Amino acid sequence: MIIQPRTRGFICITTHPEGTAKNVHNQIEYVKSKNITEEGPKKVLVIGASTGFGLSSRITAAFGYNAATIGVFFEKPAAERKPGTAGWYNTAAFEKEALEAGLYAKSINGDAFSDEIKQQTIDLIKKDLGQVDLVVYSLASPRRNHPKTGVAYSSVLKPIGESFTNKTVDFHTANVTDITINPIESQEEIDNTVAVMGGEDWKFWIEDLKAAGVLAEGVKTVAYSYIGPELTHRIYKDGTIGMAKNDLEKTVPTINNLLADLNGVSYVSVNKALVTQSSSAIPVVPLYVSLLYKVMKEKGIHEGTIEQMERLFSERLYTANGNVPLDENGRIRIDDWEMREDVQKEVDDLWKIVTSENIHEISDIKGYSDEFFQLFGFNYDGIDYEADTNELVEVPSIK
Ligand code: NAI
Ligand code: NA
Repeated sequence: MIIQPRTRGFICITTHPEGTAKNVHNQIEYVKSKNITEEGPKKVLVIGASTGFGLSSRITAAFGYNAATIGVFFEKPAAERKPGTAGWYNTAAFEKEALEAGLYAKSINGDAFSDEIKQQTIDLIKKDLGQVDLVVYSLASPRRNHPKTGVAYSSVLKPIGESFTNKTVDFHTANVTDITINPIESQEEIDNTVAVMGGEDWKFWIEDLKAAGVLAEGVKTVAYSYIGPELTHRIYKDGTIGMAKNDLEKTVPTINNLLADLNGVSYVSVNKALVTQSSSAIPVVPLYVSLLYKVMKEKGIHEGTIEQMERLFSERLYTANGNVPLDENGRIRIDDWEMREDVQKEVDDLWKIVTSENIHEISDIKGYSDEFFQLFGFNYDGIDYEADTNELVEVPSIK
């Protein structure tokens, strides 16, 4: 079928299999070009492996370190005349290239919050790998069904206390407006967001993996967080999602205890703000990211998910001397370039003056929009989007 981009609200509801394959291929080529020589992970489980940071983590492990990877995610398979989700096609492309390179790669599609998918994952590790030495936790979800109580939680993206007014952009139209986001109405909204995006499910995973004996001596596990600048604090760091991220951080000592007898260790890595399906849903953030991209590209320090994950692995998790550099709160920081004083000063100055009239000039809104559509396989050179393409692409390991 011929597949062209179609949007509903801020999301893109179509996906192009050849374009998503190109995205995956470009990421693989990037990692291979780094010629990593240090020892790294060998058998890796990535939870949230199909898009964003999780996909780039999987690609880095596989093509940077020749690791065997198992990926868990929640995606919609391709059907006749109904394209699959981007993460489905990403995984199809990833597995194909991994198999061609002689690398083990299998995937599990289902609800990672459930006991059932955890058990399926454990069974697969036992059958094929025995144990894993790295567990990447990269879920981003608006909902979670609690596996023990059956309660369905929904997260919210809201400030706490007063309402929050700031600039925002509709990146489809480049229209800059003020937006006022109403604060939470009850503590319950914080609790629900923590239940979805906090650390409990990460802990459940590690508990179950450990109890099943599938974690190797010296295992590492890492989950991802974000902090960002003052201007997004009310909606991010100090908002409901920030409370969930605090909870994620508080899970680190608990997991470290669980892993102590294996000499294992857990980390939260604070990553850079980037265009992903999840971040485009947060008000104010896309405008900030557009300005940030402009400034970081001008300084030659721009990174996408793959550059971030390659740096996380080679310069943080698996350094030559084995030391993992941490901040004063025990976190890995790969948002270090985003948070540089000169970068933030310039973004701040631009933030004050940005309007619908000057946005194309002073921000990288075009880069934002291009990258957003690239997440769905559109906007790639060398692909004929008028031509028929086969929408029925399979993930080799999923029957
Ligand atoms: P994403 O939306 O690109 O990826 C989310 C992944 O989770 C996908 O693989 C999806 O299939 C999977 N998933 C969602 N619900 C699931 C479920 N119930 N069962 C199984 N898999 C499920 O998100 P992104 O942006 O890569 O986020 C990953 C982590 O990185 C999150 O913790 C996020 O807060 C964090 N982060 C994101 C930043 C950004 O700017 N995008 C910045 C810093 C941290
Ligand atoms: Na991810």
